[in-house]
Amino acid sequence: MLNFNYNIPTRVFFGEGKIEVLGKQIKKYGSRVLLTYGGGSIKKIGLYDKVISILKENNIPYFELSGIEPNPRVESVIEGVKICRENNIDFILAVGGGSTIDCSKVIGAAYYYDGNPWDLVIGKSKVENVLPIGTILTLSATGSEMDAGAVITNLETNQKYGIGHSGMFPKFSILDPTYTYTVSKYQTASGVADIISHTLEEYFSNVKGAYLQDRLAEGILKTCIKYGRIAIDEPTNYEARANLMWASSLAINGLIGYGKDSAWTVHPLEHELSAYYDITHGVGLAILTPHWMEHVLDQDNLWKFVEYGVNVWDIDRNLDDMEIAKKSIEKTSEFFKSLGIPMTLKEVGIGEEKLEIMAKALMEYAEGSVGNFKPLAYEDVLSIYKKSL
Ligand code: NZQ
Ligand code: ZN
Repeated sequence: MLNFNYNIPTRVFFGEGKIEVLGKQIKKYGSRVLLTYGGGSIKKIGLYDKVISILKENNIPYFELSGIEPNPRVESVIEGVKICRENNIDFILAVGGGSTIDCSKVIGAAYYYDGNPWDLVIGKSKVENVLPIGTILTLSATGSEMDAGAVITNLETNQKYGIGHSGMFPKFSILDPTYTYTVSKYQTASGVADIISHTLEEYFSNVKGAYLQDRLAEGILKTCIKYGRIAIDEPTNYEARANLMWASSLAINGLIGYGKDSAWTVHPLEHELSAYYDITHGVGLAILTPHWMEHVLDQDNLWKFVEYGVNVWDIDRNLDDMEIAKKSIEKTSEFFKSLGIPMTLKEVGIGEEKLEIMAKALMEYAEGSVGNFKPLAYEDVLSIYKKSL
């Protein structure tokens, strides 16, 4: 296990009815609020009305930024910064899924930056400070509710990049599983695939001896496998929604990555797909993951696939190692398919035309090599894209 510094500062209020803490929590960090949300799902579930009534009861002035897109755009960030500056906002309350939360984090960072917020996303300028943010999560997937990252898209330049800063950890997050009852089957499946992918990105590492982290990771994976199916069949099953919600946060808040040195691989490959085709993040990950696994599997890393197959998929340890590894990849693919996820790029509208362009763009961004479990060069990335068609 490698050395590490533990830092997960977000306060989590978990469970049905936890919104009761909202007024008090906001007042700890700010007095004038920007309320951010997406295309209106929070209105349909009555959460918008509830939040507004709490803000009013607590005499907290608020302004709104609505319509934040899935795969949030830099234009929404710019609009949010403008509202914050014009109205002396000192706290951002994000109510929604990862897109709303990510956009809010970058608004908070760009508030303190005079140039174009996109400079911060591409790393041309550094984040110096971030407005405090709190979240109310409505979709279990990205873990943005408990991490310090955000992903923003620029459809004009076909770029989608992550940005991180310790100031972007939400000060608090309210995780009420009942808010996710209305998440569609498609988004539920995509969210489960995203949680699984976050876990796998940390799990598949060459570092040995981070035993505890790997067992925690397997627990998260088993949770997704067990409750993903149930949440799709029974959308209002509290136990399923609760377990997925907590898995969402734990998969990416740093806990399972401590003591390891994982450089993520499938995520950067997927971000190119969404940058060019605006597809659903988790679906892109589900399509790519089994092909990435097949591509990187070799004698040196076989042990990790065996661990994965036996501990996560309960494959018989007495089988031949390579057979276990291959079966584990099959099981991964079958599971995503069983959730109703389209498992080819063609099914989500991606053809052969731009595969080379995307692979080149990724190589430029990644400076020639992606990931470190088994580093990928241009030909590797292109091959994974082609097999995923
Ligand atoms: O916009 P509204 O109307 O709210 O509808 C949303 C949206 O259409 C809907 N939805 C959310 N909660 C709902 C609901 N519908 C019914 N009932 C509810 N309770 O679901 C749709 C998707 O929402 P979105 O926020 O886009 O999904 P998700 O949470 O999967 O976020 C995806 C974004 O997060 C980024 C992705 O790249 C993508 O841009 N990621 C962020 C990460 C991070 N911050 O750490 C890591 C991830 O790997 C990921 O890259
Ligand atoms: Zn993800």
